Amino acid sequence: MSIATAKLNKAEVIKVYSQTAPVYDIWGTLTETKARRRALELMKIRDGESILEVAVGTGLTFQELLKANPHGHNTGIDLTPAILEKARRRAVKSGLNNYSLSLGDAYDLQYPDQQFDLLVNNYMFDLLPEEDFMTVLKEFNRVLKPSGRLVVTNMTTGMHFYQRFWEAVYHLNPKWLGGCRGVLLSAALQTTGFDHIHRETVSQLGFPSEIISATL
Ligand SMILES: C[S@@+](CC[C@H](N)C(=O)[O-])C[C@H]1O[C@@H](n2cnc3c(N)ncnc32)[C@H](O)[C@@H]1O
Repeated sequence: MSIATAKLNKAEVIKVYSQTAPVYDIWGTLTETKARRRALELMKIRDGESILEVAVGTGLTFQELLKANPHGHNTGIDLTPAILEKARRRAVKSGLNNYSLSLGDAYDLQYPDQQFDLLVNNYMFDLLPEEDFMTVLKEFNRVLKPSGRLVVTNMTTGMHFYQRFWEAVYHLNPKWLGGCRGVLLSAALQTTGFDHIHRETVSQLGFPSEIISATL
């Protein structure tokens, strides 16, 4: 199964997500709620853990991490200042203070080796060039503790014919989908040292997502 070429560079990603930050939650709720919920189940969070979410966006998942891990520490990063600001406001409203949110790049995580019990990443690999998947996964591997867990959700491909609608939208104008196209991440996980790789798919409004859990 071939994966379409990524069309947005980092500067364009920041531009697109700065523009869409005010309305992102509508999209994220209409097409990604089911996948997000299932990803949370697969995270199997034990209160007290050290958790990193890469590409927090507006904080739709991050707010759930705060609730599930009140005695642990929750760290979130994103590349786009405007969308990170929304995540900050959402986290403040939670009334919890068990977190830190900062600008950061998945390619170059500013954390020591073996720091986190769990790394969470939703709808980011579907923006990245396929040739970069292993680079970023190696960085995820580096900051996870031995036996650390990873849960990744992506827009995916190859499920049902009607999902070709989304592929057609992407080919018409990738920015209409925030630069996201369907990807398949399991093989890259295997080659970067992850184990117990478990992949599920869900569809919401015909929008196909893969949810993958893995351990080191
Ligand atoms: C489709 S949104 C998903 C946001 C959030 N994870 C969610 O599920 O609602 C993609 C996000 O990835 C972020 N992003 C893209 N490339 C990134 C990178 N290299 N490092 C960190 N964040 C990145 C964007 O800024 C944007 O917030």
